[in-house]
Amino acid sequence: MTVAKSIKKVRKIIQQQKRKGKTIGFVPTMGALHNGHLCLIKAARNQADFVVVSIFVNPLQFAPDEDLRRYPRNFKKDESTLKKAKTSLVFYPDDKTMYPKRFSTYVEETRLSRLLCGQSRPVHFKGVATIVNKLFNIVEPDTAFFGQKDYQQAKIIGKMVHDLNMPVKIKILPIIRETDGLAMSSRNLYLNPAERKDALILYQSIKLAKELVKNGKTNTELIKSRIRGLVNSKNTAKIDYIQITDTETLESLNKIEDKAFLGLAVYIGKTRLIDNAILRSKDNSK
Ligand code: PAJ
Repeated sequence: MTVAKSIKKVRKIIQQQKRKGKTIGFVPTMGALHNGHLCLIKAARNQADFVVVSIFVNPLQFAPDEDLRRYPRNFKKDESTLKKAKTSLVFYPDDKTMYPKRFSTYVEETRLSRLLCGQSRPVHFKGVATIVNKLFNIVEPDTAFFGQKDYQQAKIIGKMVHDLNMPVKIKILPIIRETDGLAMSSRNLYLNPAERKDALILYQSIKLAKELVKNGKTNTELIKSRIRGLVNSKNTAKIDYIQITDTETLESLNKIEDKAFLGLAVYIGKTRLIDNAILRSKDNSK
């Protein structure tokens, strides 16, 4: 496994691989790696010859009052995890490499980015689209892998790739959870033991919504209001949003016709957690 800190070194290695006819699979991350990341890397291993993982805590996607400074960073641990996962190349740039002085060009998706998380994090997705665009230009992957955990992010990247005719295939992989149901996230490290217990309310909300849909309830106001009641029963929980939307446009739905996207963002203490599920009114087995 090679660790490259410079763009030049990445380009050189990628060009060598491409000349040999190898396909490139890419997993962008912000480090503090867990099983969710590892499943993306495994999928990349299965579907591409050469697997690139980037680790970069992207300052552009954090608002000034967010957790950029305290975001967990542990490169040594991540490095050994990536080695075990048979990563081919790790791109680990510093801030100056990605955003040199007088950087002034941004990429902004303007439809999906305004909805859901975009309401409370108005600069977030512009930062994500910009860094992912840059990373795609540096790594030139055939396929890039994203988690459904950040469903809106994956959809925005898909839209950017489509709108800007970028030659990259986007794959979205399922949410990986702890055994008790909490969706894995680097931010779970912020939770104290009491908050860690209360954090299960997100997964319980998803189970409640699925149960209601299974029992024929398709009115989204009813489902959302039942979830609100459940979440508000926890002292540490504060709802940012609970939304049921179209799976593609991410616009609110009044009624679930066939399938719908359920998105949740809830503060547990000071930690903002997100989770989601696809609700299916016809296929009750899932
Ligand atoms: P990060 O939060 O490190 O996540 C990297 C990738 O791992 C994302 O595609 C995310 O959806 C996926 N992921 C995280 N937790 C997961 C889980 N429990 N199950 C499945 N996949 C999971 O998302 C980012 O970094 C950044 O915004 C980035 C795309 C790297 C741009 O800076």
